[in-house]
Amino acid sequence: MQIFQTIPEIRKFVQTQRECGKKIGLVPTMGYLHEGHLSLVRRAAEDGHTVVVSIFVNPLQFGVGEDYEEYPRDLTRDVELLEQTGLEVVLFAPAVKEMYPQGYATFVEVERLTSGLCGRSRPGHFRGVTTVVTKLFNIVQPDKAYFGQKDAQQAIVIKRMVADLNQPLEIVVAPIVREADGLAMSSRNVYLNPEERRQAVVLFQSLQLAREMIEQGCRDVAEIKEAIIRKLQSAPLASIDYVEIVDGVNLEEITTLAGPVLIALAVRFGKTRLIDNIMLEVS
Ligand code: PAJ
Repeated sequence: MQIFQTIPEIRKFVQTQRECGKKIGLVPTMGYLHEGHLSLVRRAAEDGHTVVVSIFVNPLQFGVGEDYEEYPRDLTRDVELLEQTGLEVVLFAPAVKEMYPQGYATFVEVERLTSGLCGRSRPGHFRGVTTVVTKLFNIVQPDKAYFGQKDAQQAIVIKRMVADLNQPLEIVVAPIVREADGLAMSSRNVYLNPEERRQAVVLFQSLQLAREMIEQGCRDVAEIKEAIIRKLQSAPLASIDYVEIVDGVNLEEITTLAGPVLIALAVRFGKTRLIDNIMLEVS
């Protein structure tokens, strides 16, 4: 597999692909790949594009006291996983200095959509995400970029940014890939000790409970929120960061359930912060 570490190298590769008439699909990641990431790679390959996977643990999107230093990194393992897919993929894995050289001073910020949910508990996080994603779009110039519904707010923020800044590409959002017991796959799941891992399934279970309540006709946002909180609290090691039921398009608070609805959670197990969500079309 070809691995590019510098911006001129990946640019040259992409240019050659374009000259051969190929379209480019970009899958931005922070590495320590799992089936969730690989599902995006497969999706990009299905579209017939030349697939560029980026692996870059972006310091800008981690707050003070967050897990930037500990974030799992294993490029050899990631390359093996990508090779095992049997798909033709190239990797862009720049160093921090390549992306943010001395004197770096430019940032991209999406307002409003970033003030709630994860934006509230992680100030500056989305500014880091939108800045690095814009840089990746400018470097790779993909026709399509692929993101996971796992990070629902991130996907909405990026779509807004692409529309607002007229970035010339299409954003594809793919479904959440889960472990057999329902836990959403995440590079951060490796932080969980066995007991935390066992209890972490409560995120998915509480979302399932909410789905069932809605399917049975409940339209009371407060009642559903309370049921989710009670379910989460049944796991002794869970500490709730937020439970939000919001408009699935603009992320604004809602009082009655109708149209696209996003139910999103962030829950801590010890030092590990996990997120999960479901998007529902409520009639
Ligand atoms: P990372 O957490 O590595 O995730 C990379 C992509 O994989 C994101 O689009 C994320 O939503 C998707 N993903 C993660 N877990 C998933 C799962 N279980 N099912 C489906 N998709 C999943 O998100 C980031 O990195 C960064 O913020 C990034 C966009 C790369 C910018 O630095």
